Amino acid sequence: MTESATSAANPFHLRDNYAPVKDEVTAFDLPVQGAIPPGLRGRYVRNGPNPKSGQSPHWFFGDGMLHGVNLSGGRAAWYRNRWVRTRSLLEDASRFGPDGEVDLTVGVANTHVVAHAGRILALVESSFPTEVTRELDTVGWFDFGGRLKTAMTAHPKLCPRTGELHFFGYSFRPPFLTYHRADANGQLVQTEVIEVPGPTMVHDFAITDRHVVFMDLPVVFDLELAMAGTMPYRWSDDYGARVGLMPRGGSNRDVKWFEIAPCYVFHPLNAYEDAGAVVMDVVRYPELWRGSSTAAIAAPALHRWRVDPAAGRVTEQALDDRAVEFPRCDERRVGLPHRYGYAVYTRNAVDESTGTAIVKYDLRGSGSATHDFGPGRLPAEPVFVPAGPAAGEDEGWVLSYVYDSARDGSDLVILDAANFASRPVATIALPQRVPFGFHGSFIPDPA
Ligand SMILES: [Fe+2]
Repeated sequence: MTESATSAANPFHLRDNYAPVKDEVTAFDLPVQGAIPPGLRGRYVRNGPNPKSGQSPHWFFGDGMLHGVNLSGGRAAWYRNRWVRTRSLLEDASRFGPDGEVDLTVGVANTHVVAHAGRILALVESSFPTEVTRELDTVGWFDFGGRLKTAMTAHPKLCPRTGELHFFGYSFRPPFLTYHRADANGQLVQTEVIEVPGPTMVHDFAITDRHVVFMDLPVVFDLELAMAGTMPYRWSDDYGARVGLMPRGGSNRDVKWFEIAPCYVFHPLNAYEDAGAVVMDVVRYPELWRGSSTAAIAAPALHRWRVDPAAGRVTEQALDDRAVEFPRCDERRVGLPHRYGYAVYTRNAVDESTGTAIVKYDLRGSGSATHDFGPGRLPAEPVFVPAGPAAGEDEGWVLSYVYDSARDGSDLVILDAANFASRPVATIALPQRVPFGFHGSFIPDPA
């Protein structure tokens, strides 16, 4: 790492392992400690900001870069990292036209990467998706054959029962929130404007077997911040906070809204139906970005909401008091009752230093287990991969990129989900460090 990348004069997102890498690397047959399960056949791909210029005004603004490892026959067949070649990266294109309209074909595609209906999409919530290949090369922006007219969230939900992809777009201009559904073949078949009081930052949502769940939370658009070129959202003491239930297949007129205590949630872990109510586990911040996005952020923790339409209210319960983020569950349980969930400790409880562990929650049973990677080894979002289609909910592996600060390098670590605290099943040394980023997916090889 260069001296300038570690300089304390740099904002946090350009320092240490937040700093972008400069090169695109391809490497084959990576060194492995332990044994990669032969049943793991596919690509683990993760997205994150990696500003090509080396500079960006906010962590969330950098050009998207994908880091992928191909696992095949017990080998780590390759590692690749590639910038998503967006119009923003290639042409330095502006998101705003001459009369202020937003060009949704321009975006940094830096937040998530998901596979649906034969396509792999790199996503950022402010623009159309960008399609990429299985080798992480960019195809181009994708708008569902011209049917998509809004931005697309980076957190679409793939229904394991129907194969549908549910998602939404939000905007600082009306319509502020628009719901979409693509069928299992990738055709956009439903679009509904959802009425909300104003423009807020809507990062994620949830589905259940019967409902779509929207969060309308008090982090509001601020024109002054936008004009200053920084993150244009901040906390509001006036906006209020609500959760909306829309029956699947329904529309705006079917949405029932429920007031909740003001808070912010970037990421739900999952949601499901339970005796006429909707249970939703979320990583909840007591508030976020008071004044601006540079304000200190209070630690988030896992909470459970129970949205009870019969009683007309939401009850809220803290499930843990430790700071976590990047919650994930078994993707086969999306919208269905889950027992297990995984998240990264973002801060160690004792000294508030960056967390070195991933937690596995047993939300029906005995609390939690942790896998601590040891001093200076910092994990990223955990992704669960089942051992097979009929495998139990924690029968499989948990994958995470782990940054080793002592050697300024990264590994892909594979944990046995059922023996979570045990030594990793495999540790794959990568040819360069993977900067801290956001979200990823395991994309299985075609059957
Ligand atoms: Fe996210």
